[in-house]
Amino acid sequence: MARRPSSTFALRLPKVELHAHLSGSINRAILHDIWLQKKTALPSFDLQDPLLAIPPNKVDYDLETFFPLFSSYIYKLCSDLESIKHSTFAVLESFREDNVVHLELRTTPRAIPSESISKSQYVETVLACIDEHHARPGNQMRTGLILSVDRRNTLIEAEQVVSLALKFRSKGVLGVDLCGDPAKGDIRIFSGAFARAKASGLKITLHFAEAPVSSSDEELWTLLSWKPDRIGHVIHVNDDVKEEIVRQNIGVELCLSCNVHAKMITGSFEDHHFGMWRTSGVGVALSTDDVGVFCSTLSQEYMLAIKHFGLSVEDVCELCLGAARISFGEEEEKERLRKLYLEWDGWQGDHDSPKYGTTERY
Ligand code: IMP
Ligand code: ZN
Repeated sequence: MARRPSSTFALRLPKVELHAHLSGSINRAILHDIWLQKKTALPSFDLQDPLLAIPPNKVDYDLETFFPLFSSYIYKLCSDLESIKHSTFAVLESFREDNVVHLELRTTPRAIPSESISKSQYVETVLACIDEHHARPGNQMRTGLILSVDRRNTLIEAEQVVSLALKFRSKGVLGVDLCGDPAKGDIRIFSGAFARAKASGLKITLHFAEAPVSSSDEELWTLLSWKPDRIGHVIHVNDDVKEEIVRQNIGVELCLSCNVHAKMITGSFEDHHFGMWRTSGVGVALSTDDVGVFCSTLSQEYMLAIKHFGLSVEDVCELCLGAARISFGEEEEKERLRKLYLEWDGWQGDHDSPKYGTTERY
């Protein structure tokens, strides 16, 4: 008989996070710490306190109010090496505390001319934090980095991202991503850059059919022609596109809270296309996208899926193995994850309680 997961199950579950943006994963308390340090050192620092600019209980956005959070606020606050390191460590630690065992963190290489920081230095700094975090005693979480091309980039900038990914591949960069405001840019100009990434053996993940404006047949078939290994969101897709995704066996990264809170889907959690993709045969990775903004940890995303889609312990096990399978880790890392899941003692235990306990609030 299928067993219902217990209330502490999702938190204890070893999890694989494949779609998380570094700057979007910084929580308000950490942004506030950084702000306070800057304000103390320089009282004339005139950026608003993050607790006012991004109120702690606000998780509802739309695409018009969401993207400016980065360019108008977070980038202005995390604008030197110290704050980049501080926030990166905090993000890594919060995923580890949530029992994430494999994290693929993505970030857009960012130059900060006022601090003489180049894009290469930015990437090097994030990678150094990941290395140092790996070395912390008892840390079982392995983290890889994905470098993002922003839709607003020029082709030259996209080529730079690919070059940086290749330069730092031996230091932990796994692949490249296409992200950014779906209302901006013409993705066709990036075909050559992504072709070079693919030909060089980098993995590719793409934000895909995130909003109606970025879901024309022309855009989606162009993106599919790049042969991505994974795609994220995958909301506005017709049957032909769905069929092709299944035919190419492309892994999908699905972000429940982000899609509901940013009003990217119509309806609520139970209407999410996770319900359709989870039985499609392709690997599905539940993901947070921007936990700092939407305030739902990966454990909470699993609880939401359990609650709204009636997942059993066995369903969750299958889901986790699928996420591990579509990760960009080396075979050795995938084997580590498989073994971890096969040996995890949490699959047994008291899972039959008819009450969801702490999941009630989701
Ligand atoms: P960063 O790349 O670490 O600086 O993280 C922030 C960036 O991630 C933003 O500027 C966006 O371009 C991108 N991003 C975050 N969430 C989303 C999303 O839901 N869709 C597309 N891009 C996103
Ligand atoms: Zn995203």
